Amino acid sequence: MAGFSSRVEAVSISGIREVFEAASEDAINLGLGQPDFPTPEHARAAAINAIEDGAVDGYTSNKGTKALREAIATKHERDNGFTVDPSNVIATAGGSEALHLAIEAHVDPGEEVLIPDPGFVSYEALTRLADGTPQPIELRDDLTMDPAAVEAAITEDTAAFVVCSPANPTGAVQSKADMEAFARIADEHDVVCLSDEVYERIVFDGAHYSPAQFAETDSVIVINACSKAYSMTGWRLGWVTASHERIEQMLCVHQYAQACASAPAQYAAQAALSGPQDVVTEMVSAFERRRDVLLDGLEAIGLETPTPSGAFYAMPRVPDGWTDAVIERDVVVVPGETFGANGAGHARISYATDVETIKEALERMGRATQHA
Ligand SMILES: Cc1ncc(COP(=O)(O)O)c(C=O)c1O
Repeated sequence: MAGFSSRVEAVSISGIREVFEAASEDAINLGLGQPDFPTPEHARAAAINAIEDGAVDGYTSNKGTKALREAIATKHERDNGFTVDPSNVIATAGGSEALHLAIEAHVDPGEEVLIPDPGFVSYEALTRLADGTPQPIELRDDLTMDPAAVEAAITEDTAAFVVCSPANPTGAVQSKADMEAFARIADEHDVVCLSDEVYERIVFDGAHYSPAQFAETDSVIVINACSKAYSMTGWRLGWVTASHERIEQMLCVHQYAQACASAPAQYAAQAALSGPQDVVTEMVSAFERRRDVLLDGLEAIGLETPTPSGAFYAMPRVPDGWTDAVIERDVVVVPGETFGANGAGHARISYATDVETIKEALERMGRATQHA
């Protein structure tokens, strides 16, 4: 049999899937990375209408419909305080494809990408698929990423660094000062700052800032998606925005790998982004209530947990054997080392489930902690 590329052999299937396979079918699943709310009705309706009108039978423009890209530009002005020319947006198959485009277009073989450790699993895998070298950056005690640690790790081989706030798997939110520093570092060292903002809307304490607000050159690339903000993970609709030059290079990858994002999803996303936003506010309040229940419960169990200020994950420090003991009691959580070597000694708990289920899971975690 013909062999495989060394790039693909350098990547393994996410450890998250292994955990799911180890758990029984009726286990409580606190391993999931998606909101448990329905997609807003007006977003669903927009896709249905577009299908019935025959508007989505063909390809859209490679970058996505003009109306969607205008809605994205308006959203950035409304929520993020920076302006985007709609022609400098590519609608993608989720934030995942946007990350892929950015890394493919900016990383040469052997070049380094600095990634948070623990960090979202795709950063390492996508860097390896581009033949780049991931360089893990250890996080602060509060699980935020220190700009000074990023700056110290930059070498002449560094192509990019990834900032993720609010973060998966930690729920940590970077401060305004950190984001200003990331922008300055990217500008001064002439490296790309890949800012993954897919959890941007889900912030409980403080506020979300984007490095793109502060950059003075075109060093920041922003990745975002409707997936988490509007509970649209299944629709596969994200986007990337950057300078004209960067977008044109990323478009080279996108047009051959994807042609265009799914047309019905583009209509749904346009409606989600430009329609009423109270659905997001309600979802965020529910997440905040659940976070507080979870944090109180973990504290009662005796697990120290840096307070997550956003997303829907908590990352307590756990004793050896804890994750296995919890999974044996039919609660799925993800071992911290799945997200990088520095994740060891932690577990990621997703609270994208109702309060009653979280309370039941906490009882089982309590029993598991006594026996871990
Ligand atoms: C930090 C982060 N970035 C990007 C993504 C990709 O999201 P999407 O479902 O839009 O591809 C995820 C998904 O879990 C994520 O956690």
